[in-house]
Amino acid sequence: MAGSKFDTSLEGWRRTHTCGELNATHAGQVVTLMGWVHRRRDHGNLIFLDIRDRFGVTQVVLDPTLNAAVHARGIELRNEYCVGIKGKVIQRPDGMVNTSLATGGIEIAVDDLKILNRSDVLPFPVNENEVAAEANETLRLKHRYLDLRRPTINEKIVGRARFVRAIRSMLEKEGFLDIETPFLYKSTPEGAREFLVPSRIHAGQFYALPQSPQLFKQVLMIAGFDRYYQVVRCFRDEDLRADRQPEFTQIDIEMSFVEQEQILETMERVILGAVSEFRGKPLIGPIERKTYDEVMEDYGVDKPDLRFGLKLKNISDLLVGSGFKVFAEAVSLGGIVNAIVLPGLAESYSRKDIDELTETAKTCGLKGLAWAKRKAGRGEESWQSSIAKFLGGPLIDTINERLGCQEGDLILFGAGGYEATKAGLGALRNHLGKRHKLYDANELKFLWVLDFPLLERDPDSGRWIARHHPFTSPKPEDFPLLDSDPGKVRASAYDLVLNGYEVAGGSVRIHDPQMQMQQFARLGLSLEEARNKFGFLLDALSYGAPPHAGMAFGLDRLVMCLLGTDAIRDVIAFPKTQKATCLMTESPSPVAADKLRELHVRVHMPTLE
Ligand code: AMO
Ligand code: AMP
Repeated sequence: MAGSKFDTSLEGWRRTHTCGELNATHAGQVVTLMGWVHRRRDHGNLIFLDIRDRFGVTQVVLDPTLNAAVHARGIELRNEYCVGIKGKVIQRPDGMVNTSLATGGIEIAVDDLKILNRSDVLPFPVNENEVAAEANETLRLKHRYLDLRRPTINEKIVGRARFVRAIRSMLEKEGFLDIETPFLYKSTPEGAREFLVPSRIHAGQFYALPQSPQLFKQVLMIAGFDRYYQVVRCFRDEDLRADRQPEFTQIDIEMSFVEQEQILETMERVILGAVSEFRGKPLIGPIERKTYDEVMEDYGVDKPDLRFGLKLKNISDLLVGSGFKVFAEAVSLGGIVNAIVLPGLAESYSRKDIDELTETAKTCGLKGLAWAKRKAGRGEESWQSSIAKFLGGPLIDTINERLGCQEGDLILFGAGGYEATKAGLGALRNHLGKRHKLYDANELKFLWVLDFPLLERDPDSGRWIARHHPFTSPKPEDFPLLDSDPGKVRASAYDLVLNGYEVAGGSVRIHDPQMQMQQFARLGLSLEEARNKFGFLLDALSYGAPPHAGMAFGLDRLVMCLLGTDAIRDVIAFPKTQKATCLMTESPSPVAADKLRELHVRVHMPTLE
């Protein structure tokens, strides 16, 4: 049957090694490898193949003087054919060693070849990372099985699995139990929009897919399980961004009988241990801690990238009644003026560059971007800036002193309302960090952000909403403010930030049923609504609920940071597009009318204008 078109079964062949395994110590052994033709070079008399599997690449040689039939069959091979080869391991002579390959010290002289499957012409190359990365992402996601074969993507999926193993092992060591919770859940219109699942058995009723197992894990604490974890899918029908997917994975955690300090310490041990194991070198704590107020003041965002400086500096108090109207007005209206100093970069900015940066600043939400290039000397002559004349020498000296800036620095100013100016400069700071490569891409900089506000105003309705979720406890020392000044109350809530990404969030929970009722009331839920949506929680809390606290790591984001990519899709085997579709399976898709009838669902198509 050799050579016949359908001769693709293994017929007793068994792999002896992987394609990443062989080296000079195996010289002389007869081995069997299986994998894909990664690259093929036909030198007329000799055919060289790189055979690839998940573990690596091995070079094999088809030599007609060794086996003419095998060589003849080899002529047919093309990239991504799936093959098996048998042959002897040959140590390569000194000058021929390929040091960039783990198996570069050897090659296999092939004595038998089996085509396990042929491949159609490829829609994009699998063996050239750069070319394929540039290939249209639509094409790559449609043929995700090929995209996943590319070593750069493949190793990210393998890396993700290694990290999950490491963090599971840390959690197990700390006594956490892996417990599953339902996906068919109850619709609780809180937080993000949810995905609904119509019930066939109960006409007109729906399950919702959980945005997180939050309430189940609290109930598990009430049920006495003490320490829970789960690597679990969560579903949120949100607008997608580079670091968001409609279904994503959390490492979800809850602990009983602890206060904030103890859960932070435990989670710190878990994450540092897992990352150390993953990287094969220790990551030493303690993780820096800052309050929400501090990070907002210094960095303008609640998830600052601390791999670089460029703090936002407040100069509002110096500008009361100043001659530059934009600044004076911002301050007199209760707003702020903040500056960022870019050390030594003044001369690298042309007028055109500054105009472009001003446009970027506008996309960050700033109204404009005043600037000054710091020169030598004092007073007006120490600034090259169109606003120098409005501010005047003495004020410029005071500003220079406050900012501690030196000759050659570029100073950027934002003025306006507190929130928009801080957020705008915070976003601009991230842009500048990236643009000037102000950080080491391999550094991992974790940060705890603590003391978030408990409540915030919903921008549409003006109602108080929970900043984290409605089950988060206020900080005990702020209990007295709950009725007098709810906006000032801080929560026992914490985020873990890594290189500018929020990679985990959690809180101490309310475990007193009365307090939970009051919190629902504060959030505008009537008694009836609260019972309707969260009756099971209120009931459970009233049977001796223990104090408890928890947290959830966003696995996809964490792995993304650990692997140094900023595309969440790279670390998910089958991700959704920006439009929440799966191009490989072509979902979502319409369903047949009889299926809809069975589910008691009638589709109302939007009419096209
Ligand atoms: P939270 O909503 O902060 O908390 O989610 C926890 C972490 O999950 C990640 N994350 C996401 N990752 C990818 N795509 C998304 N759409 C997405 N949304 C969130 C983030 C985030 O820090 N139940 C609480 C946790 C708790 O209180 O214990 C919760 O879900 O990294
Ligand atoms: P104008 O007086 O509008 O020509 O602005 C003078 C300079 O101030 C320009 O560099 C503007 O980009 C800048 N500017 C305008 N509005 C603001 C603002 N809200 N914050 C900071 N700079 C601003």
